[in-house]
Amino acid sequence: MTDRARILHVVGSRPQFPKLAALRRALREHPDRVEERVVHSGQHYDRELSEVFFEELEIPLPDYNLGVGSGSHAHQIGATLKGVTGVIEDWRPDQVVVYGDTNATLAGALAATQCRVPVAHVEAGVRTGNLFQTEELNRVVTDRISTSRFCCTELNLRTLEGEALGDGSLFSGDTMLDNYRHFLARMDVGILERAGLRENAYVLCTVHRAENTDEDTRLAEVIDSIEAVQREIEQVVFPVHPRTRSAIGRIGRQGKLEAAGVKVIDSLGFQALQALVEHSRLVLSDSGGLQREAYFGGRRCVVPWEYASWPELVEAGAALPGPVDPASVLSRVNAALDASPLSAGPAGLFGDGHAGRRIAQRLLEALDAAP
Ligand code: UD1
Repeated sequence: MTDRARILHVVGSRPQFPKLAALRRALREHPDRVEERVVHSGQHYDRELSEVFFEELEIPLPDYNLGVGSGSHAHQIGATLKGVTGVIEDWRPDQVVVYGDTNATLAGALAATQCRVPVAHVEAGVRTGNLFQTEELNRVVTDRISTSRFCCTELNLRTLEGEALGDGSLFSGDTMLDNYRHFLARMDVGILERAGLRENAYVLCTVHRAENTDEDTRLAEVIDSIEAVQREIEQVVFPVHPRTRSAIGRIGRQGKLEAAGVKVIDSLGFQALQALVEHSRLVLSDSGGLQREAYFGGRRCVVPWEYASWPELVEAGAALPGPVDPASVLSRVNAALDASPLSAGPAGLFGDGHAGRRIAQRLLEALDAAP
């Protein structure tokens, strides 16, 4: 069926798989109009960070895996750029789609643009204002060279308009909200029993940002803060990203969190993590995705990071970013727990749960209009 439009999705790491799943669900409704393939850079290769997501999110395994693996940004971006370029030259897609702000996002957008294939960026217009932060650099460059940009919030769209990138940009809503609703009934509540947790009686903690893990003093502050929450406020459960696990070993703190009573567990797939968010008392995380998932589930998120990547959530009182030292983190955790229950916030802040459909529709229109 050569007359169907060809869409190539480029992904590589954990946060991209749910976004891919939401768009694929929507595109699946148009089998006569599109043919899809997925290229995975191989940046995330552990089963729990990759394959599990494809299974739980019910999307086919990638058609290509570039096997890029771990390494410097230069290595990951360079190897992905080369690999995706090869796939584009071979399969000749009409449209490339990239997601979020990782090295695969930037490399996919560069490869497509160099091959003169239109690029769509899902989760466009997010800014922290610090170009020395890798994800910010990835976002800014990707937005600049994309031909379509899909925004989770109105603010993201206004940001793009302020950068003279309003043409080709759309407030689609957040694909993460699509997934939150789609999978809510199927979340893995058994994780609470397996981890020995009681509903509404634990703080869910995740830490993975390079800014929090790569520098010893900073990481020690993060760990001290987690121990302080465990000691003074509430049971903490801490699914640990591999980057963070090895960083904790590097500063000789392995075993210390467990000794303090923190439940340290391996990183989790989509359905178990969703269940832990949904039944938590509070979330403590530097993940931009988890901040939104906490909000969708009516939970506040204390962010061990100074940047507000989602100012909308800060304004709604749902995300509390700030300094990373035990006193500041404890004070934000207490403030979050003392606050009245989170109100729903402005209706439709992250769209209506149909972002995937809206993105699919816009892509199909653009493909139909293409010469
Ligand atoms: C990457 C993204 C980040 C995203 C995060 C989600 C970039 C620049 N960073 O960061 O934006 O929020 O994914 O998790 O693209 N490792 C394993 N197994 C794996 C993958 C990694 O053990 O399957 C370990 C390796 O020691 C590796 C380290 O984790 O060096 C960091 O992995 P990497 O993919 O470089 O960055 P992330 O921190 O995961």
